[in-house]
Amino acid sequence: MCGIVGYVGPKQAQDVVVEGLRRLEYRGYDSAGVALVVPGDVISLAKRAGKLANLEKALADSPLPASHTGIGHTRWATHGAPNDVNAHPHLGHERRVALVHNGIIENFADLRARLEADDHVLLSETDTEVVAHLVELQVESGVDLTTAMQRVCQVLEGAFTLVAIDAHDPDRVVAARRNSPLVVGVGDGEHFLGSDVAAFIEHTREALELGQDQVVSITREGVEITDFHGHPAEGRRYHVDWDLSAAEKDGHDWFMRKEIFEQPRAVADSLLGRRNQAGLLQLDEMRLSDDEIRDVDKIIIIACGTSFYAGMVAKYAIEHWTRIPVEVELASEFRYRDPILDYSTLVVAISQSGETADTLQAIRHARTQRSKVLAICNTNGSTIPRESDAVIYTHAGPEIGVASTKGFLTQLVACYLLALYVAQVKGTRYGDEIDEIMVQLEAIPQQIETVLAGAQQVYDLAREHTGTRSVLFLGRHAGYPVALEGALKLKELAYLHAEGFAAGELKHGPIALVEEGLPVLCVVPPRGRDQLHEKMISGIQEVRARGARTICLAEEGDTRIEPYADVLIRLPRVPVLLQPLVATVPLQLFACELATLMGHDVDQPRNLAKSVTVE
Ligand code: G6P
Repeated sequence: MCGIVGYVGPKQAQDVVVEGLRRLEYRGYDSAGVALVVPGDVISLAKRAGKLANLEKALADSPLPASHTGIGHTRWATHGAPNDVNAHPHLGHERRVALVHNGIIENFADLRARLEADDHVLLSETDTEVVAHLVELQVESGVDLTTAMQRVCQVLEGAFTLVAIDAHDPDRVVAARRNSPLVVGVGDGEHFLGSDVAAFIEHTREALELGQDQVVSITREGVEITDFHGHPAEGRRYHVDWDLSAAEKDGHDWFMRKEIFEQPRAVADSLLGRRNQAGLLQLDEMRLSDDEIRDVDKIIIIACGTSFYAGMVAKYAIEHWTRIPVEVELASEFRYRDPILDYSTLVVAISQSGETADTLQAIRHARTQRSKVLAICNTNGSTIPRESDAVIYTHAGPEIGVASTKGFLTQLVACYLLALYVAQVKGTRYGDEIDEIMVQLEAIPQQIETVLAGAQQVYDLAREHTGTRSVLFLGRHAGYPVALEGALKLKELAYLHAEGFAAGELKHGPIALVEEGLPVLCVVPPRGRDQLHEKMISGIQEVRARGARTICLAEEGDTRIEPYADVLIRLPRVPVLLQPLVATVPLQLFACELATLMGHDVDQPRNLAKSVTVE
């Protein structure tokens, strides 16, 4: 997830573009850059690694020439480290076209190989630079920038918003979108492009939303929209009445709520580009050889907080699909117990931020014992992946809310991908079985949409619980970490006493907590594993018989649960192992809404920090 801006009009483009980037910095802050068409029909460009302030300082020291046409980008790195060279905009071979990009081009490796075979020199590790070269090849062949963009989009796979300028066409900016956001700001004698309306809300509140697979060309006078084949198309015009803060949050009251609603997109992005042309899984920065993976005889997952619960889910998937034993350990405890590690142990460190001190110290310890470390991380170039042997980036985009939501769901995706990849290399699952699970994973974004469409039921439930002092969460198997995560969210945000239990463990002690009217949220497993489902129902009966009010999350069509549920929240039907991807979502919504109703700051809960860099 990156922020992109485009402008053409009477104002100084550099000022408008940099201002827009400042408004979009919450979308990414690894690097920033701006490119302008300047007199003499050349592109002038500045880009810097790090926060936008670094670019602003560079521009203050040496401003770009005056210009009325420009593009800009603030990056959340996916391909390539967050450095100056990988920063956008990227240029074509002849420096005639400059281009910025948000998203992932799945077939970039093939396209890059073809360009390199034709003697193109690519300077960066990004997928974006390939597109800049391709668009420039088209304009060099004589077509206009709009046609060039249409033709290039036809060969691209993946998700992308692209915005480009051509030095030989100084009064035009052309953009395209597929599965990635782009809005047009309609001004008087000027037009804007942005990842969202925050980019231009100071200048105009009239906006045009583009459809899927569309190309837009803006000039001072107008806006032209087509599909990828040049057929005319139309955008949806609307008036923005949000203030700036709501605009950044896409109209939501909190970043956390926005991030919960972004999860279908985040999960889809997390799955993008993971298979090669032959359908085999390939993991970008998996720098472990097949032989090293075959040698692995034990996996230890280390993480903190919500990431630890992702690790608990991963254990079920990895053990089931690869038959390798997995231990899951709190990072803060790991090195103090003198764990048994050697070269055949794979340590998997899960961290959204990549900076958590407890996790970092744990991987340092593991590496001194000659174990290989693989990081699952959302932050490209952060310390944990830098100090690991391999990394799977989760591609969730920046998470601003302190309590992790889309970070968690995309960590789960990365864990499933890791498990399937190891299964592929070790041959513990057949290719068609792996394919089948990938298809099930690819259906998840749509299923999360279904859960989100039912948010109101969860909000109403939260309203009934504003006076509650304690809530229990029950789950079994992969639903057990979901119960723990649901309880953690409630502690973090609503400051309530909340506890998650494995349903079978309840009778061994915690059941003493149950009293008349106590709300108990139950994550009911899908019926695919009958025993699991039946055992869960027994646990629910036990608490209900003692006066608990049972709120059950159960799949569509599960009628067996009905007599035991005081409240029933329906989940889409998914396999047991993937259920955490859908079952966690109502629990996030519940905690977010309850905390809001109680008047708490949901994005910055008391006593918590997004990334904890002390042990
Ligand atoms: C902090 C945050 C939690 C997060 C944990 C691990 O405690 O408040 O939300 O789960 O750190 O963070 P990481 O960035 O390593 O995933």
